[in-house]
Amino acid sequence: MTFKTLDDVSDLHGKTALVRVDFNVPVEDGRITDDTRLKVALPTIRKLTEKAAKVALLAHFDRPKGKVVPEMSLAFVAPALSDLLGAPVQFASDCVGDDAKALIEGLPDGGVILLENVRFYPGEEKNDPAFAQQLADLGDIYVNDAFSAAHRAHASTEGVAKLLPAYAGESMRRELDALNAALGAPVKPTIGIVGGSKVSTKLDLLKNLVGKLDALAIGGGMANTFLYAQGHEVGGSLCEKDLKDTALEILKEAEAKGCRILLPLDVVVAQEFKANAANRTVDLGAELSADDKIFDAGPRTVAQLKDVIANSRTLIWNGPLGVFELPPFDAATVEAAKFAALQTKSGKLVAVAGGGDTVAALNHADVVQDMTFVSTAGGAFLEWMEGKELPGVAALG
Ligand code: 3PG
Repeated sequence: MTFKTLDDVSDLHGKTALVRVDFNVPVEDGRITDDTRLKVALPTIRKLTEKAAKVALLAHFDRPKGKVVPEMSLAFVAPALSDLLGAPVQFASDCVGDDAKALIEGLPDGGVILLENVRFYPGEEKNDPAFAQQLADLGDIYVNDAFSAAHRAHASTEGVAKLLPAYAGESMRRELDALNAALGAPVKPTIGIVGGSKVSTKLDLLKNLVGKLDALAIGGGMANTFLYAQGHEVGGSLCEKDLKDTALEILKEAEAKGCRILLPLDVVVAQEFKANAANRTVDLGAELSADDKIFDAGPRTVAQLKDVIANSRTLIWNGPLGVFELPPFDAATVEAAKFAALQTKSGKLVAVAGGGDTVAALNHADVVQDMTFVSTAGGAFLEWMEGKELPGVAALG
């Protein structure tokens, strides 16, 4: 897909760039616990301020459902962003209307202002054309730098893009380039790793991937459903037994499409859900009691996975291989992640990861900096892996 980037904008001196960012950050007791999404927006803000544009940032926080909810104000983000940017960031207590417009007009060239939560208006989530027009009235160009909100067809992600000259921001561009390198036009052979607890939440994703990849490793709790479908014992493990037929269909589909499915060859089993619980490693086919629960893939599984990664040129990863929050059940995830990072660092692999708790798992393995690209997007990354068109991206085309 082709879209314009900030390199295509000519003179922005004194013009207003309306920039959609994703500042839906995790907060505990009023403090931002992970400011990655603020940092992700900096390259775009800097590029625009260097061109002497006025930057008006549009964002949502939480789900106020079209009403003003004071606890969901974005005011707390402005000082945090200002610290990271090293420049003042004003705050406007409305995201549309005369007051917002006057504050934007009063900015110096190269000044930055954050507008209040767009979801305080019902028109945002309804993608109401009148609300989109009110947003468009504030700017000369529109820049979308919020890939992680691009799966929403909202006024600030989709509607407004049709009303102003629209551009992909720096992070959006980087993300789309990385995703294209992983699944759009990847260097082959390709391998995917999909983990996490439930098959039911990742059906579309699995179906899309088996049609695209050369190999797909299935791990985490969802692997149990596949093992069960194949007639293996899973003891008291998390397992969606009602999805037995669906799992078998996916395996059949993979075979028809020439995608090699890698399921656990051995598993780590424990009876208590806690860190350092007594555990044992057993081969597939071993007898398991109703109290035995599979918490991780075993070393033979990891060795096989490393072997396939070593012979692959592109890896796309979503979801952990085991209960990585509870050591030692993080072993398979950590070892596979470290190996993928090593291959990537030595230029043999393009490795792209994201969605759900993938970032936390890769952070735990301390490899985020060594992967080609790790997405901060949750739902948007999953929908993209499912092969769906993202409205916020499509609107830039
Ligand atoms: C996210 O945090 O994944 C995005 O900001 C989207 O938020 P939403 O799921 O509330 O639309």
